[in-house]
Amino acid sequence: MNAGELAIETRGLTKVFGRQRAVDSIDLTVPRGSVFGFLGPNGSGKTTTIRVLLGLASATSGEVRLLDGEMPHDARAVLPRVGALVEGPAIYPFLSGRANLQRFDAADRRTDPATRSRRVDEALERVGLSHAAKKRAHAYSLGMKQRLGIANALLAPRDLLILDEPTNGLDPQGTREVRSLIRSLSDDGTTVFVSSHLLAEVEQMCTRIAVMSAGRLVAQGTLDELRSGGTARVRVTTPDAAEARRVLTGLGLTPELHGHDDVVTAELSVAGLQPETVNAALVRAEVRVRGFEVRGASLEDRFVALTGEGFDVAG
Ligand SMILES: Nc1ncnc2c1ncn2[C@@H]1O[C@H](COP(=O)(O)OP(=O)(O)O)[C@@H](O)[C@H]1O
Ligand SMILES: [Mg+2]
Repeated sequence: MNAGELAIETRGLTKVFGRQRAVDSIDLTVPRGSVFGFLGPNGSGKTTTIRVLLGLASATSGEVRLLDGEMPHDARAVLPRVGALVEGPAIYPFLSGRANLQRFDAADRRTDPATRSRRVDEALERVGLSHAAKKRAHAYSLGMKQRLGIANALLAPRDLLILDEPTNGLDPQGTREVRSLIRSLSDDGTTVFVSSHLLAEVEQMCTRIAVMSAGRLVAQGTLDELRSGGTARVRVTTPDAAEARRVLTGLGLTPELHGHDDVVTAELSVAGLQPETVNAALVRAEVRVRGFEVRGASLEDRFVALTGEGFDVAG
């Protein structure tokens, strides 16, 4: 991919706190136009990476390209085209949603006061808060507050949005609101880089993902590419489970018994071993097969394997 096709690119990006490598030599490649999920358990280095991308913290070493510029060198040219929501929006609770945005807009000295109202109303419209524009922000639900934070990031036209765990702490309804907002932003051509510790969420929202674990980038690519990195499993339902297990072991697999001892599963861990070969071996051994199922590796299996942690998939 050419540099011009990327919204974010890092090379060997590293951030050290004391003795800890919070971000350890990561090479991120975020294509323009993607909804890119930055996935990893708590403490894996997502927020630190995002702070460095935005120039809020300096890198210990490595390079960052954001849109067409090098960070932090070209920050003044690049950052106006980047909207960000990091660690929750700073909202004035006793001001209305609209008044909050007017303040944020006024705080940016590059903006023209004459067109402020229009910018603010458009941003409210974009995140679906027009109806609540006059309501004080303390009466907003968490989902509405988060959308107000995103509206703030949208006061100027943006080529790239960087959102750090935008659904954190939201109820299912708020989560849905933010998720569908992110999709609609992407439909308008904005690149969205969104971090999350929830696999299910990233799977629903994103076209590409990168997976962080303990400061390292352990996988990166499209959802399909990541799925295909795992191994498939076979699941055999049979009254002859003990015999089935023996046959699978004979093929070099490591079968497990489930259910009331009538289900045997095994990961197809032997290189080149096809499901049909397994089935034929069972038939040859006269194992009575009631059910034979092949399942691709789930993303969840894949992530547990990559990060050594269970992901909260309840989403
Ligand atoms: N300012 C800081 N000083 C020292 N350690 C930090 C600081 N910020 C983050 N860390 C550490 O860096 C690691 C990564 O944190 P963070 O980037 O917040 O992870 P995530 O956003 O994935 O939960 C954690 O171990 C955290 O304690
Ligand atoms: Mg974080």
